[in-house]
Amino acid sequence: MSNAAYRGRMAGEDAHRLGYRGVDDDPNADVLIAAMNATARWDATIRLRSWERAQLRLAPGERLLDVGCGLGEAALALAADLGEGGELVGVDASDRMLRVARSNAAGARCRVRFTVGDARALDDPDGSFDAARAERTLQWLPDPEEAVAELVRVVRRGGRVSLIDTDWSTFTIDVGNDAFAALVHDGLRTERHRASNVGRRLHELLGAAGCVQVATTEATQTWTTWDPDESPAPPGCFSMDSLADDLVAVGRLAAADRWWFVSTIHDAARRRQCSMRLTMFGVVGTRP
Ligand SMILES: C[S@@+](CC[C@H](N)C(=O)[O-])C[C@H]1O[C@@H](n2cnc3c(N)ncnc32)[C@H](O)[C@@H]1O
Repeated sequence: MSNAAYRGRMAGEDAHRLGYRGVDDDPNADVLIAAMNATARWDATIRLRSWERAQLRLAPGERLLDVGCGLGEAALALAADLGEGGELVGVDASDRMLRVARSNAAGARCRVRFTVGDARALDDPDGSFDAARAERTLQWLPDPEEAVAELVRVVRRGGRVSLIDTDWSTFTIDVGNDAFAALVHDGLRTERHRASNVGRRLHELLGAAGCVQVATTEATQTWTTWDPDESPAPPGCFSMDSLADDLVAVGRLAAADRWWFVSTIHDAARRRQCSMRLTMFGVVGTRP
């Protein structure tokens, strides 16, 4: 494929300027939905969700809320612990996401309701859930504190609140060049238009919202094989083009070096000499 054709293809596939802040306004929303299916298969996601399930200890008859539930598969897996008498409510800003979530809910045993809403202003009354969770939602909000306060508000006393999120400042790329790795690491320390590094703050956020007995864990996702001629990014990850955009925006990469930056990663990946790592964090606390 010629460079020009490749650049054209990348531009088309990578046109997600709003990201998960505005799925329904995205002309390529299907790509965002497919990325959610891919991130659900990450080893790190599987490990964190399994840890969360053990920490939440959901019981038959309980009510669980998932805010920013996306395709709903994580909440539906947890709903198996709610039994026939329990209820799962999923809230998301995107109707497109919820349509998929509703179709995923076909085999659920408990009552399930997926509804459009805003994490920052939930419709539910105070103390109306036994447990509430938000996974990789806070990073898309301008003010994650607001959403955490809402999660805590709608949980009863003694109920549990769970947060899982990525910390993009932990993202590393190894192409066998320390200066290149430092460029990426330094560039991603700056949050850009969103709380992209919120993962490391989850413990502090739950504590500030009044939760106690906060348990914490983390899991690192590693990619060692990826064919850049097949896909603009490793499964569920952002593309190297959008990474280059971010580094240009924070002044770590000259706009003229953008193509060099992307091709350095792609060439290393073709030689199987590229690895990437990203750490996600999980916390579960109790409302006193
Ligand atoms: C990265 S996806 C994560 C989906 C799901 N929690 C998961 O981990 O697979 C972020 C989700 O947050 C939703 N979202 C973004 N802003 C929101 C808001 N203000 N209120 C509710 N949901 C929001 C998006 O529509 C999207 O489904």
